[in-house]
Formats: sequence, C-alpha cells, structure tokens
Amino acid sequence: MSIPLNRRNLLLGVAASGLVQPAVAAAPDFGPLVKPSWSPEGPQGAAARKGLGFGAAVPSNLLNRSAEFRTLLARDCGLLLGNNEMKMAVVLPEPGRTDFAPADSVVRFARAHGQRLRGHALVWHEALPGWVAPLLAGAGPAKAEDFLRRWAETVMGRYRGLIASWDVVNEVMAGYGPVTRADGLRPSPWLTALGPDYIDLAFRIAHEADPRAALAWNEDSLEHDFPWAEAKRTRVLKRLEAMRAKGVPIRRFGIQAHLVSDQPFDAGKFRRFLREIGQMGLGIEITELDIDDKAYPGDPKARDRAVANFARRFLDVALDEPALLDVVTWGLFDGDTWLNDHPDHRRRDGLRQRPLPFDEAMRPKPFREALIAAFRHAPDHSALRARLRGTA
Ligand code: G3I
Repeated sequence: MSIPLNRRNLLLGVAASGLVQPAVAAAPDFGPLVKPSWSPEGPQGAAARKGLGFGAAVPSNLLNRSAEFRTLLARDCGLLLGNNEMKMAVVLPEPGRTDFAPADSVVRFARAHGQRLRGHALVWHEALPGWVAPLLAGAGPAKAEDFLRRWAETVMGRYRGLIASWDVVNEVMAGYGPVTRADGLRPSPWLTALGPDYIDLAFRIAHEADPRAALAWNEDSLEHDFPWAEAKRTRVLKRLEAMRAKGVPIRRFGIQAHLVSDQPFDAGKFRRFLREIGQMGLGIEITELDIDDKAYPGDPKARDRAVANFARRFLDVALDEPALLDVVTWGLFDGDTWLNDHPDHRRRDGLRQRPLPFDEAMRPKPFREALIAAFRHAPDHSALRARLRGTA
C-alpha cells in the first residue's frame, strides 16, 4: 500500500520513525576496545610512528561476508568507517523504521580490532531517504531543527563516545558545479529548510549529541589547481575563520581527496591551504582518498605505478602539514570503488578503474607501498598531533 506524501503523513512519519525516542537507551554493548590488530609493517604501522592514522571506508556487507577482506582491514587499518552505513538513507529507510545493523557491524569489528572510528555523514544533501526531502521542504525552520536534533540524537547518540571524529556536514560548498549564491553554499534541502546558518546549527546540535567526538566539516573538490577550486578554497577558509570566531564547536576539517589523473595539482597552493587551516587550530583529515586513473595507460603495471606516484606526490605535501592527523581511503581494494559506477569517471578504453591500494583480487599494489613510504618519510609532528586529538 502506498501512503500519500502529504504534510500530515510526513509529520506523523517523524513521530513514528523512532526519532521521537532517541535510540540511545536501547544501544547495544559494542564490546571493549581491544589491543590494536594492525601490523607494524603495514600503512597504519608506519603512520603510527608519526602520530598519524590510516584507514578505509568499508561496506558492511563485504565486511560480513569476506574473511579475506577482514584480514586486510585488521592488518592494515587503524581507523574505519562505513561508507554508507551511518547515512540517513540507510539508518532511516522509511518512517517508522530504523536500521542500525550495517553500522553496528562496522562498529563491532573496529572495537574488536582496536581501530578508531569515523562517523559519516550527519548532514548531506545526498543519501536522504525519499520521505525526508519533502518533510524538510514543508516543515519550516523550527520543525526542521527539531528533526535535525532528533536525527543527531538517534545516530550520534547510539554510538556516543565510540566515534573519534564525525562528519557533521558534508559537501556544503559549491564549486565544482555552478556557484549560485554569494556565500558560495551549495543548494541543499537543509539550507532551504534552515537557512544559511544551518552549518553552525548542525555543529552545535552534534556537539550536544556526542560531546566527545571531534566534529568535522568534510568537503570535496579542494585539491586540484583550477581557478574555481582556488576560489572554493578561499571561501572555505573565510567560512572556517567565521565559524571559529563565533565559537562553533568544529575541531576538524576533512579533505576528501578524490584525485583525478588528468587534473592539475599544484603542491604549493595545496600546501598553503593546509597551513591556513592548521593555523586556525583545527586538525585536518584526508577522508576519501582514491585516484581516478582515466589519464593513465591501460596496462595494469604502468597504471598502478602512475597511481602510486600521484598518491605519493599528494601525500608528501599533505603529511608535511603538522595538523594533518589521518589518511583514509574510500575503499581499500579495486573491487570496491564508486568510480566504476559514476559516468564522470569512466575510462575511454572501457577498463575498470584501479584507484585503491589493493587490486580486485585483494593483492597489494604499489599504492600501498606509496602509503607506507610516505608515512615513513613524513616529518614527525606526533606531539602536536596528540594535542589536536586530545590524547597528549
Ligand atoms: O544498497 C542498495 C541496493 O539494495 C540496491 O539494489 C542498489 C540499486 O542502486 O542501491 C544500493 O544502494 C546504493 C549504495 O551506494 C550501496 O551500493 C545507493 O543506491 C547509492 O546511492 C550509494 O552510493 C553511495 C554514495 O556515496 C551516495 O550515498 C556510494 O556507495 C558511496 O561510495 C558514496 O560516497 C560518497 C561519500 O559519502 C561523500 N563523498 C563522495 C563519495 C563518492 O560519491
């Protein structure tokens, strides 16, 4: 039976969705954080010696079904997140139903392997279940704020105290596509419902929901050397400064780093951008690293070498920055990449992308070696990093 999407049903939907009673009380025991399982020889081992973290975004279905995949994660990663598991589309599929099973399995695995966790992504214009966009559009600011607060209590509350850093807002600044507003914000159902202060509000609400998590703004399309990207970097810095001045509880800035082989990269400009963020007292995370290899030759050996070279060039610049804390890849092996599903990232020769540290058969690639070498050669800023993490 289909239920008409009118205002009354939508508001009833919120009431019935499990959002009214935060799920905190019913949160299961996720087990103790055990001694880390990662190998000193792997990327997390090399990263740890510089006060850095390394990890990957993982799909829970693969985690649950592949022992080989679990072995890789346990050995190489000190940090995990679900790539979709804590998004609203997964957690609140329809009014009256919450689904925490996918996120719970990532959290359980990480705790059983001594790995830190990231949360992703509380407020995003994508991954909203179909019933929520019309709800936000019809709610008015007070009801929309109430909805956001209940959503934060529901998902952040369930994992309160277990998540090292949370992406509170994701991809909120326009730049890669058209910039339609003077403040540069990207159109979003959240912006429409709550107005331009929704970002600050989301941080304040998230801080109430999990006061110990380091709260992050996660942003895309900031790495390459285009005039529009430089303009976006400038707008980001301006907004970060304003947020700091207003006392918004932000502690981290996430740079996605979906790098593209045929796009220019200027080490100096990127380095300056990182420095400016670091000087504001924020920690920086590389949150979604992968390399679209479309400009590289089809031959897998040559392609893997070129991908590793670009990764190393990028990482050397990033890891030079004292405030850089963690490097996270968006998937760990080539069999699990979003790039093959996206029309902008198709290779002209029709071959599948090889953007990650392990190949489709989960064999290590030069990219993994590049990660280890970059961590080994990075300057040691562990003292500042510990202070920024709050573990000093
Ligand atoms: O699980 C359903 C499945 O049941 C159904 O049969 C199938 C049909 O399309 O869809 C499956 O869900 C898809 C899900 O990925 C799991 O594969 C969703 O439609 C699809 O929208 C979703 O895409 C994710 C996307 O974010 C949107 O949430 C990608 O996996 C994920 O890699 C991507 O990640 C984003 C980051 O969150 C933010 N930065 C960019 C990055 C890449 O786009």
